[in-house]
Amino acid sequence: MKRLTALLAFALLVPGPAGAADPPALTAKGGMVAADNAQASQVGAAMLAAGGDAVDAAVATALMLGVVQPFASGLGGGLFAVVWRADGAQGFALDAREIAPAGATRDMYLDAEGNVVPERSTRGPLAAAVPGEIAGLWRLHQRHGKLPWKQVVAPALKAARDGFRVGALLHERVTAKKAEIAARPALAAVFFVDGQPVAEGAILKRPALAKTLAAISKQGADGFYRGDVAKRLAAAMAKDGGLITAADLAGYAPKERPLVDAPWRGYRVLSMPPPSSGGAVLVQVLRALEDLDLRALGHNSSAYLHRLAEALKHAFADRARLMGDPDFAPVPLEQMVGDAARDRLRATFDPARTHERAAYGGDYALPEDGGTSHFCVVDAAGNAVAITSTVNLAFGSMYLAGDTGVLLNNEMDDFVAKPGVPNAFGLVGREANTIAPGKRPLSSMTPTIVLKDDRVALVVGGSGGPTIITGTLQVLLNVLAFDMDPRAAIEAPRVHHQWVPETLFVEPEIALDVRENLVRRGHAVEARGRYNAVQAIAVDADGVARGASDPSKLGAPAAAAP
Ligand code: GLY
Repeated sequence: MKRLTALLAFALLVPGPAGAADPPALTAKGGMVAADNAQASQVGAAMLAAGGDAVDAAVATALMLGVVQPFASGLGGGLFAVVWRADGAQGFALDAREIAPAGATRDMYLDAEGNVVPERSTRGPLAAAVPGEIAGLWRLHQRHGKLPWKQVVAPALKAARDGFRVGALLHERVTAKKAEIAARPALAAVFFVDGQPVAEGAILKRPALAKTLAAISKQGADGFYRGDVAKRLAAAMAKDGGLITAADLAGYAPKERPLVDAPWRGYRVLSMPPPSSGGAVLVQVLRALEDLDLRALGHNSSAYLHRLAEALKHAFADRARLMGDPDFAPVPLEQMVGDAARDRLRATFDPARTHERAAYGGDYALPEDGGTSHFCVVDAAGNAVAITSTVNLAFGSMYLAGDTGVLLNNEMDDFVAKPGVPNAFGLVGREANTIAPGKRPLSSMTPTIVLKDDRVALVVGGSGGPTIITGTLQVLLNVLAFDMDPRAAIEAPRVHHQWVPETLFVEPEIALDVRENLVRRGHAVEARGRYNAVQAIAVDADGVARGASDPSKLGAPAAAAP
């Protein structure tokens, strides 16, 4: 729990939601991108303005994020995408999650006595899983992009080669990790100037990464997974004690997965299936609340938050008990999102009290918004893309692979190193999520598109470990059940419960009497500053988009045309 507390301490530094006089969401017709970085949103919006579709904009945005906010995504990480194609009225989910290298073993993070070795799964080359990001972006573009690949890669390549203006958030994150970065000279060479964290507003160039992006621009995904870059990445791994080989890279393939697709109050919710837990937990909770008059309960009232927390405790307990990579063992999704699950949650609900941990059905599971980034795209034709991309913790493994400029993830920590022992996010799990070669670690990423009559009504998702799910859920409910503008929906204070620890985390703006009423129902309530960041775009029946980026990460949306 010490580790968890240390991670959460960061959250306290992040400003909470602003007051009532917040500006409304950005409103525009003709397409929009809402990322957690304004430069990245602008690059995506420029693709839309140049005649690209939502996929072109998404690829350009993702690549730009990897250059300008490398602590939260990039070529060394992985992503999930939920996409809606208006032509043909079809959605799909793309899984470009990192996978365990062929040399990975179940107990690789344990010592001779069977104890988890601190930091072995979170720092250095051994923490890295085989990256999926660029394979995913390439696949999306090959199937659905309109603009030439080179054109969508160009802004990120230019930013890495010629330099970009360092944002306040990158400066803050480098400063927060100063000691750890200073201890790694290759990392310090990228992010320090004269021995100090690069200043906000400075121009930062990333020439090694630019060379890798140039290869990708020329050869597509092969520019990363085969040839010179792959050879250099694998050589660095072999030299520094990592497991990823050239064969691991050449063998990586993203996968299309059947969506979590659920009707809900006249809408259709499309979200990410396993190996993410996001869609299943989101839909389980939405279904538990489906028939309730939430407005009558009152937004952020104790009656509402108690209902929400109870459903979350069940859903996170089921996550820990049932979920892992579906390619290794079937995940009984119906047990989470089916009618029986809904009825079980309703039958056990006590309006007056929360229950003991065991009543939710299993063993254990909180973090830092760390190394993840979510963005939403809609275009003029009615297409939408929701992408959540990650390197896991901030700056991933903190390991730069040789001279490739690629900062590798530490996604291996999303596996269960030892059943019952919490990972960096305080999450626990069981057999389904133990390590095996080629297996994908269980995720909480929840890229989500909500449809109304086969038309995109909302695109939403977030970053922040398991709080991705609860942040996405509450913003979705705020927009669709409480009729809020996306900006207000994102700024409204949120709560988080993940079953283990047995704590209902509430943002400090949740009223004191509400907190007291929750304590009376048996919840252990703890105030925490905002930990997660949610981006959302709502679209009305006339195609007018209203988008907002979470102020906690200082992002801003951008429109293709005013
Ligand atoms: N690495 C964060 C997640 O996938 O949930």
